[in-house]
Formats: sequence, C-alpha cells, structure tokens
Amino acid sequence: MEEPELSGKELGRKLNRIGSVAQRGGELNQLDLAILLAAGEGKRMKSSRAKVLHEIAGRSLIAHVIKAVEPSAPNELRVVVGANKEEVIQHLSQISPNAKTIYQEVRGGTGHAVKIALAGYNSLGTVLICAGDTPLLSGATLKELLKHHNSTGASATVLSANMPDPSGYGRVLREASGDLAEIVEEKDASELQKQTTEINSGVYIFAATDLVAALSKLSKDNVQQEEYLTDVIGILKSEGKKVVAFKAPDFTEILGINDRSQLSQAAFIMNARICNALMQSGVTITDPMSTWIDLTAEIDVDVVIEPGSAIRGKTKIGREAVIGPRTTLIDCEVGAQARVFESHCESSVIGGSAQVGPYAHLRSGTVLSEQVRVGSFVEIKNTTIGEGTKVPHLSYLGDASIGAQTNIGAATVIVNYDGVEKHQTVIGDHVRIGSDSMLVAPVTIGDGAYTAAGSVITEDVPPGALGIGRARQSNILGWVLKRRNGSKSAQAAAKKEGSK
Ligand code: UD1
Ligand code: CA
Repeated sequence: MEEPELSGKELGRKLNRIGSVAQRGGELNQLDLAILLAAGEGKRMKSSRAKVLHEIAGRSLIAHVIKAVEPSAPNELRVVVGANKEEVIQHLSQISPNAKTIYQEVRGGTGHAVKIALAGYNSLGTVLICAGDTPLLSGATLKELLKHHNSTGASATVLSANMPDPSGYGRVLREASGDLAEIVEEKDASELQKQTTEINSGVYIFAATDLVAALSKLSKDNVQQEEYLTDVIGILKSEGKKVVAFKAPDFTEILGINDRSQLSQAAFIMNARICNALMQSGVTITDPMSTWIDLTAEIDVDVVIEPGSAIRGKTKIGREAVIGPRTTLIDCEVGAQARVFESHCESSVIGGSAQVGPYAHLRSGTVLSEQVRVGSFVEIKNTTIGEGTKVPHLSYLGDASIGAQTNIGAATVIVNYDGVEKHQTVIGDHVRIGSDSMLVAPVTIGDGAYTAAGSVITEDVPPGALGIGRARQSNILGWVLKRRNGSKSAQAAAKKEGSK
C-alpha cells in the first residue's frame, strides 16, 4: 500500500518525532524537562527552616517529590527556589546534584515562578511541573499522567483528584460535556464553584511551546495579585487547545503540606504505606500505628517488629530478628535472629543471634559479633565485641576492642577519658572482668586473664593473670558494740554474741 502524501509541515513533524524517539532509545514517554516549585515561604509552617526541607519517613519533602519524578526520567530538572534559598540549594546539591536551581526573588505566583524557570529554555518537548510540597505523589502516578498526556495529544494535562475535603485547593471546573474548562483558586471561587470536590493537585504536563505562549498572557487580576499557573489552563482552552484532567487513583497522593498538622498527616499516610509494603513482603509488624519506619530501611522476611519502635535511616535488619517493643534503631545493621528490645541504638552493628536489652544504649561505632549479649543499663560506644561475649548489667564500654567468650562483670566501667584525650582498651578472649572493675585506659587485659571485683586496673594484666587493684580488707572486731552502743545494730550484734 502506498504511503499517504504528507504536507511539508506534517513531514517535518513526523521526522522530528522519529528523530526524538530514536534519540530517547525508543522511549516515547520520556520527559524533556521537570520543574519543581519550591520558592514559597511556607508561612503556615511557622518554621525557621524552609518548608520543603521538613522531613517525613527520613526524607525531605522535596526529596520525596524528586524521587517520584525520577522514573519519568526528565532530561533536565529545574527547581525554583526563593525563601531560605541557601539552605535549599545546599540540600539539593546533596540529593540531586544535577538539578539546576533558579532564584525567584519576589514571590510573583506559581505562573511567575514557571516563567522564570523557563527563561533560556529553548528546547521543545514536554514539561512536567510539580510543587515541592506534595511528598506523597508516587512515581507510578506521574508515569501514568505522562502516558495519558501523550496518548491524548493534549497541550496540557492536569493531575486532579476528588478530595473529601477540598478546602484550600484550586477547583477543577468542567463544562456540561465533562471537558475541562478552567481552574479557579479557592480565594477567587464563588460559593457554587467551591462545592466542586475535584481539585487541582498542582501537578501538570505541558507541551513546552504552548506553555511558553500562554504564560506571556497571564495577568495578576485575582485576589492574591499573583500570576497563577492555573490560569494557563483557561488561556489554552480559550485558544482552542486541548486541555485534559487526569484523576489520580488515590487522593492521598496529592495532599499538599502547608502546616504542621498536614505534615503529620502525610507522615502517617507515608508510614502506613511503608508498613503495608513490608507486611506484604513478609515482615510482621505487631502494631503499625505505633511503629515508624523510614523509607530507607531494609527489613528481611520473618522479622518481627514489636510496638513502639522506630526503624530509622539506613538500618538493615536480617531475617527472623525480633525488634522491640519500644526500640529505636538509627542507621544500624542487625543480623539474622538477633533480638533487640527496649533499647536505643545508633550507627551500630548487632551480630546474628545477639541479644540487646532491655534498656541498652548502643552509640556510634559499636560492633557486636554473633551471639553477644548486652543487658540492662549498658552503654557502649566505639567498641568492637567478639563472638559470645556478655556484658549483662550496668556497664560503660568506650573505645575498646574486646575478644570472644569474655564476661564483663556488672558495673564495669572503661575509664577511656582522662579529661583531655580518649584512650584505647584491649581485652582478650575468655577474660573474666570482675564486677565493679574500673579499667583505666590505655590498658590491655590479656587472653584468659581475670580482674578482681572492685579493682581499679591501671596497668596491663598479662594473659592468664589475676589483676587486683584494691586495698586489702581489714575487720575491726567489736567496733559497733564499742562505738555504737545502744543502737539497733549493737543490739543485733549483742544477740548474736549471746547465742554463740
Ligand atoms: C496551588 C495551586 C492550587 C492547587 C494547590 C495544590 C496555584 C495558583 N494554585 O495552590 O490550584 O490546588 O497548589 O497543592 O498554582 N511557589 C513558588 N513561587 C511562587 C508561588 C509559589 O515557587 O511565587 C511554589 C510554592 O513554594 C509551592 C508551590 O509553588 O511549592 C505551590 O504554591 P502554594 O502557595 O503552596 O500554592 P497553593 O495555594 O497551595
Ligand atoms: Ca501548597
């Protein structure tokens, strides 16, 4: 069959399309540019920090949005910054070094922000726009939005949703036919328009050329005297362009954070998502309502997490470990079948089948080998402990290396700090440290050595030796009867004497 003849313009378009598809390795749904709007002050947060830097589930709000945008693979990412810009730019340089930041000096509205972001942008193609304060948005929904935009061939596609409580949001107005007509901000809406529950998420995809043309026609003729990006929709529509709305399957995805209550609601929703995903993957979470898990945590199958626990940062937990109740793990690695309860642990490694708690405090640099036991009121810092060693009660261990199968008696303290510098302590294998020993660093206790209870050990103890560092005891006989005559103690002692 013969190809239908194409006009010059059509042919050009077709070639462009083929060219750009080839350039993108055949991926039609790729994005050319993503713009994040993050210049607002976030006044309602009442915070000295930028709003988009507040965190939920271990990530800043803006980092969540950037993660959601990533699967759509924009060729370029531009972030409009304003309030607290140094802080935001510094954060972006860590989480997304390729992002280009654009400074909006005066808050002229979302339309103004996009205008600035597009200055000097001469590529055509497809542009995604998101706000930096909608952290629950998923990558899957953005990909669906892009797919919808491409399949309808629209000039603009708005991500909308039906909100049970639409107050505060811009309303999506439709024609009698159901087609999208325009977006009206709540502050500018009539009472009737406010009844609409379909709201604007603040996420859009535009054909770049149409967007640029429409932006030049924005006015500030509204209650807030700002250039609204939302007005672009009405402008495009009035020019006969195709504008469509794509409804998000789940309205919680587009909740915007404007104040601390919304921050906590978003954190709650995000946490429920994380817990559900983990439970689906084979983790038992006894009480997801009181368990807080960061997105960055990795938890293996058959782990049990008891109530009141927090799993933060880059924590990894091996299979069949039991964590909690009331345990916080921050950036920790926990081996299989370990048990950690009623404890606080930070930047530590807990070996397989080890037991920690109740009431243990593992500080940064603690490394426990397999089957180590750490009991109540024990604090450990910057210390490596060998397999099977026990520290069961009331101890402080700092800046030490301890061998395997050793027992650290109750109330042992490593005296690591002389008031100026920290010093190292080395304890060998199969050592028995007597209760209430003070090990004054730097000091080495050899393999198989003992220390006597109550000793202050200031010198090395060779392998197999008993180190004693305390005054010998002497008893002064009859002292109480003589010096505390008439006291209850004296009476008790006298009775004992008489019964002899
Ligand atoms: C905006 C939408 C509204 C939508 C809602 C969704 C407009 C006019 N309104 O309202 O229809 O329902 O989002 O959450 O777009 N920003 C700048 N520079 C500015 C103004 C804003 O960068 O000059 C940024 C803000 O930092 C924020 C985003 O744009 O990240 C949205 O601004 P915000 O003031 O929160 O808009 P809303 O009133 O929530
Ligand atoms: Ca907002």
